[in-house]
Amino acid sequence: MRVPPQRTNVTRLRFPARRAPSPTSNLPDAPMDTIKTHVTNSTEFLLDARRALHRIPELAFKETKTATYVADALLSLGLPVRTGIAGTGVMGLLETGRPGPTILLRADMDALPIQEATGLPFCSEHPGCMHACGHDAHMAILLATARVLTQMRNSLRGTVKFLFQPAEEYPGGAAPMIAEGVLENPAVNCCFGLHVWPSAPAGTVEVKPGPLMAAMDRFEVTITGRGGHAAKPHECVDALEVGTQAVGALQRIVSRQIDPIHPALLTVAVFRAGHAFNVIADTAQFGGTLRTFDTGVRSRWQERINQVVGGVCSAMGATHELQFTSGYPPVINDVAMTEAVRRAAEATVGAANVREATPTMGGEDMAYFLERVPGCFFFLGTGFDGCSMIHNPAFTVHEDALPCGVEIFCRIVHERLGISG
Ligand code: NI
Repeated sequence: MRVPPQRTNVTRLRFPARRAPSPTSNLPDAPMDTIKTHVTNSTEFLLDARRALHRIPELAFKETKTATYVADALLSLGLPVRTGIAGTGVMGLLETGRPGPTILLRADMDALPIQEATGLPFCSEHPGCMHACGHDAHMAILLATARVLTQMRNSLRGTVKFLFQPAEEYPGGAAPMIAEGVLENPAVNCCFGLHVWPSAPAGTVEVKPGPLMAAMDRFEVTITGRGGHAAKPHECVDALEVGTQAVGALQRIVSRQIDPIHPALLTVAVFRAGHAFNVIADTAQFGGTLRTFDTGVRSRWQERINQVVGGVCSAMGATHELQFTSGYPPVINDVAMTEAVRRAAEATVGAANVREATPTMGGEDMAYFLERVPGCFFFLGTGFDGCSMIHNPAFTVHEDALPCGVEIFCRIVHERLGISG
């Protein structure tokens, strides 16, 4: 495989050796080799898009420049484009005119409130905002995929939807895009998405059937006691003290009340109480995040938190209020669709470089698409020696890995929509 020219200061990647072609084969180029050629020819388009988008990071539902760039790129390919879906979402449509299934490929668009510290020549032009989760790479991969599949449209049937979704980080753009009908007209049969993955070396792919990423819910508790003089605790109900007991007791939910066969996580990440050294706090507020893959565990979080915090409060003479916010569902990959990704990945990077993904307690709103149609979300290795992880000001991807993402998407589509001749 031709390694694209390096224009960044990241370490040069050595791609794994390809499997040698069968010595007995004298067939003309298979369609799969055509895919590789098209992908290679789109490398410059891909890297230009990634760098242009990297310069203009925008936060959730404010991705206006990003949406304009994406829509213009899709229009330049001659594809019909729908914009303004769920605010800033964009969808391009490849209609082959031949009956067949509809595949949805998804990329997320939003950036993070982080000041970039990569030193890249194409670093963020927006102070305090950065593509620190690789969504610039996701969009560029999807645009290059659209380009390749458009070039190959005569050998395809059915429809491909290229979906660019706002606000993945928070509060989520997938659900409102679904509410605006992106899975209908024509109805989507299967869906695929990827995330760049710095903990996996560039040139590798991680994929896994079943649960991959956790459901994430959020809670905030306000405890009300009775404030007063710090020297007269017996005349007060110390909300800070009640709050710390409640935080400790909440940790017993996971360790004592949930079947250990089901991974679950409760993190209290915020605690606020008190304002003066000689005043007993009359209120305390704390909150955090809840993660699990199991819908049964998930359905009982709210009730359990209320019971535990309520029990502590009633023992101490305080009261509480719980605000519970349901977040993204778990990412669950369909078994057959995961096999399709595995085949495409093996053809792209070699079987030895396709690994079983380790599930993560991180969340992803790709989950909403996967809840409705079978599909697969997978990790594209973009790591290199000394690279930083996502959500870090120094995070960047190894660009040599990005064409692999394009090739995998194209092979998935070609396997399901390809026609001979
Ligand atoms: Ni991300």
